[in-house]
Amino acid sequence: MTVTTNQKHADLRIDIGRLNRRLADLAAIGAIEGTEGCARLALTDEDKAGRDLVVTWMHDLGLEVTVDGIGNVVGVMAGETDGPPVMCGSHIDTVRTGGRYDGNLGVLAGLEVVETLLAAGITPPRPLAVAFFTDEEGARFAPDMLGSLVYVGGMPLEEALDITGIDGAQVGPELVRIGYDGPAPLPAAAPHAFVEIHVEQGPVLEAEGTTIGAVTSVQGISWTEVSVTGQSNHAGTTPMSMRRDPGFVAAAAANFARELALDLGAPQVATVGRLELFPNLVNVVPAKATFTVDLRNTDEAVLQDAEARFADFLTATAEAEGCTVETTTLARFEPVIFDPRVVDLVEATATELGHSVKRMPSGAGHDAQMLARICPTAMVFTPSVDGISHNPAEYTSPEDLEAGSNVLLHTMLALAAADDLTPTEG
Ligand code: GLV
Ligand code: MN
Ligand code: MN
Repeated sequence: MTVTTNQKHADLRIDIGRLNRRLADLAAIGAIEGTEGCARLALTDEDKAGRDLVVTWMHDLGLEVTVDGIGNVVGVMAGETDGPPVMCGSHIDTVRTGGRYDGNLGVLAGLEVVETLLAAGITPPRPLAVAFFTDEEGARFAPDMLGSLVYVGGMPLEEALDITGIDGAQVGPELVRIGYDGPAPLPAAAPHAFVEIHVEQGPVLEAEGTTIGAVTSVQGISWTEVSVTGQSNHAGTTPMSMRRDPGFVAAAAANFARELALDLGAPQVATVGRLELFPNLVNVVPAKATFTVDLRNTDEAVLQDAEARFADFLTATAEAEGCTVETTTLARFEPVIFDPRVVDLVEATATELGHSVKRMPSGAGHDAQMLARICPTAMVFTPSVDGISHNPAEYTSPEDLEAGSNVLLHTMLALAAADDLTPTEG
């Protein structure tokens, strides 16, 4: 069964000026000096200030706002009937070197949809909801998509509250500290459907001159933290043959990860994004190396092969160097396929609005991949200039933001009018 595109209020359009003002106001919180980007790591003071601003906007729009035990915030606009809402949303936490669009667009475009309907005096057939989920980035507290994972019942709340971050802080106490340990029940009730608009964060749409991505899937994600312990010693006096150097093991593993990805071929990617040596001094063979490896693939079997080959290399290299290795899984999510009915709807809506559109997988992780476990879900992508993201230089043009947000508006209206959306397999 297909979901019919929105025919009622077909001429309705969002206000890009208003959306851009909200994007700028939110980006001013945690702004990185001399750039357009911002740093609002999850559950920090900056995240709290960003949350407070978005909650104020939700109240200003008359939304009924709830906060749950992991700090997810949902604002609901009443519809003609009660029942599960058509939900959109994303996250407002950022990496430490974040842009102003990653996540923020999905939340603020949702508020823009609500304000557009309010300004036109339109009550949607079903309630609409705009959500922002806690700690999507996972940059402070792993795994990523933590809030939406707990929202859909993928991790017990108690386990999530116990997670310790890279700075030693814990999720539970940090939520209490910033005042976002709310009472709304978890796991949450399933929405009628979920749509997330997000910047692509990659180069494909721009390179092909396409305005909208109708996202079909999200690739699998494997994050591992590796600690290698050896023998700290004098850099000048210790012969190479007598070294037990964890720094060497870490460097060799990082090099291997890259070779592995090249050998497996696209879409396999591999990244060593965090690397710490102890004591980190010019003339000391390190005692310890800690690093992370991020492996991703759209194919679960290939991803498992990559994980196994990396683990084998690590064990053999550490053993040969006389070092010991400990690994911790920080995040592991299988690839996710979105509901083809919602993907079709996004594609058809974009076409009806006169935009070029391409069906495509997502390379980045998103809250939508968690929501897909409990309700029909898909995503709308807009182009990222030069494919840059997780970088203050991230940029999407106002025209593309406007096009994507109008696709979101009309996709949500169509979903609100559709009655039979029982989840399908996959
Ligand atoms: C989350 O944003 C990720 O894809 O790393
Ligand atoms: Mn994001
Ligand atoms: Mn991100």
